[in-house]
Amino acid sequence: MAILVTGGTGYIGSHTVVELLKDDREVIIIDNLCNSKECVIDRIKDITGKNVKFYKGDLLNIDDIEKVFAENKIDSVIHFAGLKAVGESVAKPIWYYHNNITGTLNLCNIMSKYGCKKIVFSSSATVYGKPKSVPISEDFPLSTTNPYGETKLMIERILSDIYVSDKEWSICILRYFNPIGAHETGLIGEDPKGVPNNLLPYVARVAFGQYDHVNVFGNDYSTHDGTGVRDYIHVVDLAIAHLKAIDRTNIVTGVEHFNIGTGVGYSVLDIIHAYEKAVGHEIKYEICERRPGDIDECYANPEKARHILGWEAKFDIEKMCKDSANWQKRNPNGYGD
Ligand code: NAD
Ligand code: UFG
Repeated sequence: MAILVTGGTGYIGSHTVVELLKDDREVIIIDNLCNSKECVIDRIKDITGKNVKFYKGDLLNIDDIEKVFAENKIDSVIHFAGLKAVGESVAKPIWYYHNNITGTLNLCNIMSKYGCKKIVFSSSATVYGKPKSVPISEDFPLSTTNPYGETKLMIERILSDIYVSDKEWSICILRYFNPIGAHETGLIGEDPKGVPNNLLPYVARVAFGQYDHVNVFGNDYSTHDGTGVRDYIHVVDLAIAHLKAIDRTNIVTGVEHFNIGTGVGYSVLDIIHAYEKAVGHEIKYEICERRPGDIDECYANPEKARHILGWEAKFDIEKMCKDSANWQKRNPNGYGD
């Protein structure tokens, strides 16, 4: 029986597939490659020495999903596939709602048809909106500030309704904080299209000379140095959380939500300085205006995941920056053309 990984050639999906294969689980990937490259499959094989079955398919095309279920015995699904850029979601809301929501509905429809009722879903700390305090626990109020976040919250609610209608479903919702870093081999990592929106890939490009300096979006937040604080988590730690989540779906039915973070917050300047240590030279930065929509502080209370999933993050910020730098150095143009 196999685990189907949607979006498995993407950043978090590829690291999760590596950990699943290392743990001798049978894996099948479906991805339409709208934000990833097929060569990731070869890199996964290089790391693990194992084969993974890959379907180039779109969750918006129900026949693509059905083909995978018809040709394989799928026991459970880890659902990463989706569009994820906040700014782009504001500019193109119809595309975001259609891709993320319709894709998930199609997937659940076919899962139901084939009696596959175990799913782990990639949600985000963005569903907490502007939290009233930190650290953030799973029972905090939920709200969103952009279409991307809204799709995450809507999918969480859709999955809960599916469980209400059929108590055989087992649904594990993982709310990720800020995934960074790369596999320590430097063979897989984050490959954003164009100019990166997120802090770490931008810092990485400054560190290796592609850009001159980091723009620090505001230094007047109420944090220890005035710059925004986030809970950065190594992507391999995050990947391992999915194995624990799949195990959980094998033993309980219901809908459960887990924060996947370290519980430690670092500011933008902390990150720049940690990266300077990793590469051994200074990284230039300039303070500029706040980015609209950003919040002061966001970090997890990860206790529920530790207690129930038996998972906790192991890698520290030094390791996150070191592995990110190794990936960037070896792949200055990401996966290339
Ligand atoms: P990613 O873009 O690298 O991976 C997503 C993959 O899904 C891509 O390979 C893309 O080609 C594929 N995809 C998108 N739409 C598809 C469709 N309709 N059919 C088939 N494949 C499709 O993103 P990621 O960083 O690996 O994120 C994975 C998931 O985690 C996403 O759902 C994202 O919203 C969520 N998430 C990411 C972050 C983050 O900071 N990276 C934080 C919180 C949550
Ligand atoms: N920042 C800069 N300069 C940059 C980029 C970011 O100063 O060039 C700052 C931001 O202002 C923020 C911090 O760095 O204080 C982190 O910003 P990111 O864009 O890296 O991450 P966010 O916390 O804003 O958002 C990320 C994902 C969202 C997800 C959220 C919670 O992009 O999709 O984490 O998981 F919802």
